[in-house]
Amino acid sequence: MPAIVVLGTQWGDEGKGKATDLLGSSIDYCVRYQGGNNAGHTIVVNGEKFATHLLPSGVLTPGCTPIIANGVVIDLAALFREVDGLRDRGVDTSRLLVSADAHLITTYHVTLDKVTERFLGKNQIGTTGRGIGPAYADKINRMGVRVADLFDEKILEQKVEAALEQKNHLLVKVYNRRAIEVPAVCEELVGYADRLRPMVADTSRVINSALDEDKTVLFESAQATMLDVDHGTYPFVTSSNPIAGGVCAGAGIGPKRIDRIIGVVKAYTTRVGSGPFPTELLDQDGERLREVGAEFGTTTGRPRRCGWYDAVITRYAARLNGLTELFLTKLDVLGGWDRIPVCVGYEIDGVRHDEMPMTQSEFHHAVPVYEFFEGWGEDISACRTFEELPKAAQGYVQALEEMSGAPFWAVGVGPGREQTIVLDPGRAN
Ligand code: GDP
Ligand code: IMO
Ligand code: MG
Repeated sequence: MPAIVVLGTQWGDEGKGKATDLLGSSIDYCVRYQGGNNAGHTIVVNGEKFATHLLPSGVLTPGCTPIIANGVVIDLAALFREVDGLRDRGVDTSRLLVSADAHLITTYHVTLDKVTERFLGKNQIGTTGRGIGPAYADKINRMGVRVADLFDEKILEQKVEAALEQKNHLLVKVYNRRAIEVPAVCEELVGYADRLRPMVADTSRVINSALDEDKTVLFESAQATMLDVDHGTYPFVTSSNPIAGGVCAGAGIGPKRIDRIIGVVKAYTTRVGSGPFPTELLDQDGERLREVGAEFGTTTGRPRRCGWYDAVITRYAARLNGLTELFLTKLDVLGGWDRIPVCVGYEIDGVRHDEMPMTQSEFHHAVPVYEFFEGWGEDISACRTFEELPKAAQGYVQALEEMSGAPFWAVGVGPGREQTIVLDPGRAN
């Protein structure tokens, strides 16, 4: 199976890094196609914990070529910080390729992200403050600076000047901040040029050639379906398309090249930042999920909002992404509950909905309709086959699979690579 997509089905942090790592040994290329250093993927290898933000998780797989494709927005300071951090820990980052067409996040994007959020007050999105939204806004507004611009200082200066002419008005007159100087921005960017140059490539061409040669290419999403700018809980979303459709534009491949689309889904639900979340638990149960599941952001350290599994969302993700399978993670976190509620539909203004409602206003009013499943007391983190799971845990997995819109490929029972039950070994490679 040469082209595989791994993406989030909920609001992020489902365990995409672990899914990528699990497929690791069979992967030749691992491609990030959207987002930036707002992502945080944790991978635990032999008890050692790694976190990736801008780099695809496949950087940790020996022999795999990590690619940052055109759809990503790149903060070069963050990129090199991450590369250096991994290199210091003995990870080989020398194969990394970066698209010449990827857009850059500059200091003015980070500043604008932060001041805009402050300005929004209680209506804020709760962004990661990494400049993601403003950088994508400039891209769509045709005022962005791209990787290739670093190698033509004259063009770079023109572009930064044009962008700042408009932004400085905003910063000074609306936000009461100091203007940002063109030379300072250009100097910083050009300072990275020599180090970046050997990594820069026509990544769409590299990826298509790899697929022509029957190499295995994995496309790893940052964020997730419900944070998709078109199909998520707008405006409480990120500014790109994590869904499978985003792979084609974000990496430069045709839709027919994709063979396998794996959705990663937690056995419960979490969300970071603002926005609707029907199954959210604001009580002790939510606190318990956060503690047991260690639900604190990999990137910002913020406590994640926690709630029960929402099958409506998974079905929606299965449909939007054309999922061929699902990877259910963190089943171990649910040990010790007498009964486990699962959201099977919503009641919205007195009407029952089995599928995602058409409008955001309806979704804001969605009250979950729960079915209850028997819990289990045993620690399942050492289980390696489906049969070893307690009967109640087997029942929970089967029930979720039936209502989630795609077959389950594997189940996670702990953060470690080996703490996984692959349900059908024939599909693992
Ligand atoms: P990502 O952004 O989707 O890659 O996910 P994060 O890394 O932000 O968050 C997922 C967290 O859950 C990480 O700390 C993983 O190590 C951890 N994790 C992944 N799968 C499992 C699992 O099956 N059980 C447990 N207990 N932790 C897991
Ligand atoms: P991974 O890849 C969870 C959320 C932010 C905020 C919204 C917009 O680890 O799953 P942004 O900075 O992107 O403009 O913020 O999106 N968000 C994430 N939530 N996991 C992530 O990444 C996220 N990346 C962004 O909290 O609500
Ligand atoms: Mg994460």
